[in-house]
Amino acid sequence: MKIITRPAAMFKAVMAVKAKGKSVGFVPTMGALHEGHLSLIRRARKDNDIVVVSIFVNPAQFAPGEDLKKYPRPVSQDIALCRKAGVDFIFSPSPKDIYPEGFKTYVSVDGLDRVLCGKSRPGHFRGVATVVAKLLNIVWPDVIYLGQKDAQQAVIIKRMVEDLNFPASIRIMPTVREKSGLALSSRNVYLNIKEKEDALVLSKSLNLASLLIKGGLRDAGRLTKRIRELISKKKSAKVDYIAIVNADDLEPLNKIKGSCLIALAVRIGKTRLIDNVLVKI
Ligand code: PAF
Repeated sequence: MKIITRPAAMFKAVMAVKAKGKSVGFVPTMGALHEGHLSLIRRARKDNDIVVVSIFVNPAQFAPGEDLKKYPRPVSQDIALCRKAGVDFIFSPSPKDIYPEGFKTYVSVDGLDRVLCGKSRPGHFRGVATVVAKLLNIVWPDVIYLGQKDAQQAVIIKRMVEDLNFPASIRIMPTVREKSGLALSSRNVYLNIKEKEDALVLSKSLNLASLLIKGGLRDAGRLTKRIRELISKKKSAKVDYIAIVNADDLEPLNKIKGSCLIALAVRIGKTRLIDNVLVKI
């Protein structure tokens, strides 16, 4: 496994691999790798000749006052996990390599970046789209691997890849959960024991939603109310949003139909957590 920090060196290494006709699978990450990331890496390993993992805590996707400084950076643990998972290249640039002085070009995926998480995190998805566009121009993967946990991010990246003609396909892998149901997230380390228990209300409320839909409930307003009622039983929980939208374009649904995404963001104490479930009718 090679660790590369400079964009030009990464590009050169990938071009050399591609010249030999080898396929490249790419897993973009911000490090603090957990089983969720590893499930993407394993899938990339299975599907491709070469696997590239980027580890870059992207300043452009953190708003002022968010957790950029304290975001976990367990570098040597991440390297060991990548090595064990059979990664060929880690691309781990410095912020200066990605955003050199005078940087002015950003990618916005119009509209999709202002709904759901975009409402309370203005600029977040512009930062995500910009860094992923840059990473794609450096790594030129055949396949990009993303997690369903970040459903809105996946929809936005899919749109951008299509709109900007990046020659890559996208594979979305299911959310990995603890036995308790808690969706894995690098931010779970911020939770104390009590908060971690309270955080189960996210997956529990999504399970309830799935059950109610199975039982025939189709009215999105009523479903939202039931989810909100369950979450509000936890004192430490503060709902940011509960959204019932079309899974492909994130348009709100009044009636549950087709491919439906139920997504939520909830603050547990000071930690903002997201989770979602996809329901197909
Ligand atoms: O999902 C993440 O970890 C990040 O948003 C991504 C896609 C690596 C871009 O910084």
